[in-house]
Amino acid sequence: MFNSDNLSVNANNHLTVGCYDTVELAKEFGTPLYVLDEDLMRRNCREYKTALEYHYDGNGLILFASKALCTMYTSKLAADEGLGADAVSGGEIYTLFKAGFPMEKVFFHGNNKTHDEIELAISFGVGHFVVDNKEELELINEIAREKNFVQKILFRIKPGIDAHTHDFIKTGQIDSKFGVALENGEAFKIYEYATTLSNIKVDGVHCHIGSQIFDVEPFCEAASVMMNFIVELQDKLSLKVNILNLGGGFGIEYTSDDDPLTPSEYIGKVAETVKSLAMEKNVELPFLVFEPGRSIVAPAGITLYTVGSIKEIENVRTYVSVDGGMGDNPRYILYGSKYSVVLANNAAAKPVAPVTVAGKCCESGDLIQENILMPEIKVGDTLAVLATGAYNYSMASNYNRNPRPPIVAIRGEEKKIIVKRETYDDIINNDLI
Ligand code: LLP
Repeated sequence: MFNSDNLSVNANNHLTVGCYDTVELAKEFGTPLYVLDEDLMRRNCREYKTALEYHYDGNGLILFASKALCTMYTSKLAADEGLGADAVSGGEIYTLFKAGFPMEKVFFHGNNKTHDEIELAISFGVGHFVVDNKEELELINEIAREKNFVQKILFRIKPGIDAHTHDFIKTGQIDSKFGVALENGEAFKIYEYATTLSNIKVDGVHCHIGSQIFDVEPFCEAASVMMNFIVELQDKLSLKVNILNLGGGFGIEYTSDDDPLTPSEYIGKVAETVKSLAMEKNVELPFLVFEPGRSIVAPAGITLYTVGSIKEIENVRTYVSVDGGMGDNPRYILYGSKYSVVLANNAAAKPVAPVTVAGKCCESGDLIQENILMPEIKVGDTLAVLATGAYNYSMASNYNRNPRPPIVAIRGEEKKIIVKRETYDDIINNDLI
């Protein structure tokens, strides 16, 4: 009935997540509320690890892409599950460090890392930088030299693959702000240059072709392009490339229209491609890295809201307004993202009419979903939006000075607030005068 097997309906017809009644959670913690099913997030981490072990003898590492949901607690959880992390800013690196994350398992991304971020990352012992451009490369070399240190790096490569996904989240093609292109020789040149720098150790290649991708083909194509590049680097520069990092981007089920593959299906096919090319070209098998974010944490999250007003505009549409919106979930206004919405306090009820679920921000486009079929809804009802664990809290804002919701994590029969609800005082905290 639901897109995730941790969701069900109890005898009161309430939606449950794990062993918890969502209506009770909404009452206890207030709304809007993010709920994170920690058991499911852990299961997803393990599925990736097991797939890598099974298909590639564990000769690699799964990184949790922090940008999907970066908190102290989720960082500790990823570390506890034996994952590494992809970080993309000083803030994410700081969070990981404070959470006690093993920093040698962190890969630092970003297309415009600042001097301060680079310094912070080196002093915290970040294992690898995924370098985006020449200016960054030179800056890392200079800072590493001052610290008398050699920094391991990969470069982010644009492999020239067109992934079939939303334009804003595809990144593998030449017209992208991320990385260096293969097809015009830019990538080769920067590798050649990097080998001349004394405080840089070139350790690998990286690409990330986009996000919310359902086919395995583009990943295999990317793997094969990257393997050929590894061979070229070995032949022309005598450079031994140890790491092949293929990024993240595996799709998940937001609605029943989505049909994602399992981690084992993705990793199995990609590993096959890498192994057969390594054999054919006579290169050593690289250490294989993946960086899933969404597929680890999105299905483990739901958001609960309370309905505050209902506006039926005859012959136009019905707006159902909730107490959150683009502040806690900007994905509809940004990408028109689809979500499944459940009437949590009457979860088995049959849909009767289309409604538009609107947020409370002063912005017409502040919608959660448009024209979705829902059962009869009343003021005071609880709505649950499913699969909001990724890119919701991490992209949340205080627009209209709305405080951000808390995150409650559930694990078995345990529940705890891992991020507290912001207060109005939190909101004025940085205002000095
Ligand atoms: N690695 C790199 C280098 C990335 O840029 C990303 C995502 C990932 C890994 C993780 O991708 P995932 O497995 O989560 O798809 N805000 C957008 C998504 C932006 C993704 C940015 N990069 C959204 O809400 O759909």
